[in-house]
Amino acid sequence: MGSGYVGTTTALVLAEFGWNVTGLDTDDRKVESLRQGTLPFYEDGLEVLLQKHLQSGNIRFTVDKENALKSHDVIFICVGTPARQDGSADLRNIKQVAKDIGRHMNRYQLIVNKSTVPVGTQERISEWIRAAQPSPYPFDVVSNPEFLREGRALTDALHPDRMIIGADNDHAAKLLQALYYSFDCPILITTPRTAELIKYASNAFLATKISFINEIAELCDKLDVNVNEVARGIGLDPRIGLPFLQAGIGYGGSCFPKDISALLRTAYEQDVGLTLVEQVASVNRSKHLHLLDKVRDRLGSFENKKVAVLGLAFKPDTDDIREAPAIRIIRRLLDERACVSVHDPAAKLPPDLTHSAAAAVQWETPQQALLDADAAILCTEWKNYRLIDWDRIKLGMNQPNIFDGRNMLDARKMTSMGFYYQGIGYR
Ligand code: UGA
Repeated sequence: MGSGYVGTTTALVLAEFGWNVTGLDTDDRKVESLRQGTLPFYEDGLEVLLQKHLQSGNIRFTVDKENALKSHDVIFICVGTPARQDGSADLRNIKQVAKDIGRHMNRYQLIVNKSTVPVGTQERISEWIRAAQPSPYPFDVVSNPEFLREGRALTDALHPDRMIIGADNDHAAKLLQALYYSFDCPILITTPRTAELIKYASNAFLATKISFINEIAELCDKLDVNVNEVARGIGLDPRIGLPFLQAGIGYGGSCFPKDISALLRTAYEQDVGLTLVEQVASVNRSKHLHLLDKVRDRLGSFENKKVAVLGLAFKPDTDDIREAPAIRIIRRLLDERACVSVHDPAAKLPPDLTHSAAAAVQWETPQQALLDADAAILCTEWKNYRLIDWDRIKLGMNQPNIFDGRNMLDARKMTSMGFYYQGIGYR
């Protein structure tokens, strides 16, 4: 239930393992696109698998809840849990699918929840299902958080580093283990509440590493120290680890910001102060502003300056712009009356940034976006930005200023080409 990143990827991986899978969604257009073999979002490798299993007959997509729910033994919940105004997770979609499951249940079913939900939700799902059942069929609800990353969805889903199964009883845990027979990774069987918290704690910890290195990067700027080398120097200690120590303009996406808000909300409701996690979010909120300060210092002011923003997506290999630092940067630049030109190989500017009085312009190529620019700001580390012929670009820029929000270019090389180059804790 739910054909977004997690739902579609889960469905395709199960189809690849040979199971008979139906993807159920309420959005006709999404379902039609999937039926035609086209993903409604950008994710490398997934479309090939989609087409393969549409052909093999292992997968189909529908909006017909009743038929889909009545004809399957295991139901995966993969719907969105966006943030509400107060930061808590909005469980409306979860409640709706739980009611649908209950209403159409006609035998024992195993319900597997993959959506990220606050601790205690598995119990609520069971209650919602029970309340909607016309006859009291037995069922189990298992919490099975998903750890895949956008842009790497298929690889992560096919080769998970661990599997968390939060179940109330052995029977339910064993059923899910049997379904996942092909996975070769450690499996932790625990309670549903523990599984639910593991998901939030995991994202909060990864975000902590990012905000930590971003704070150190600020100090590096002042001390003329290279943060990339600091990250490598500490990350080679296996107790710390190299991943998620890439300094930049902060984390974005549909997961870290929303999950951290929800975790903080849960802690608040329990009267527990998660001060470290609060600071992680606070450091992240200001990262893009520090980069803009550097650009403004260099240009004097943004008024009537042409600024090229390279990269819109919150990370490379996705077209997702939810909570993307690039969008915050563009809004600020427009507020300060800069002329903003933009490029991204996959993501598009949101309509409010293209149709307002002060609008940004998106170009087909980075070269077009950079023409006549007074400064370039790199917001997403798409590989092709490394491959640009920067020597030629320099000739077309009004001022050769590069602000690298992802430390993706070689500072020494850019400087030797005649660029004024500033990264994040790196120059
Ligand atoms: C994240 C987690 O990594 C997944 O394990 C989890 O399943 C997912 O959230 C989720 O809860 O659904 P995702 O948001 O797709 O995955 O992307 P990440 O690769 O984690 O990157 C998140 C953000 O952190 C991006 O904006 C990225 O640019 C930033 N980041 C990442 C850094 O700034 N520095 C780093 O070293 C790593």
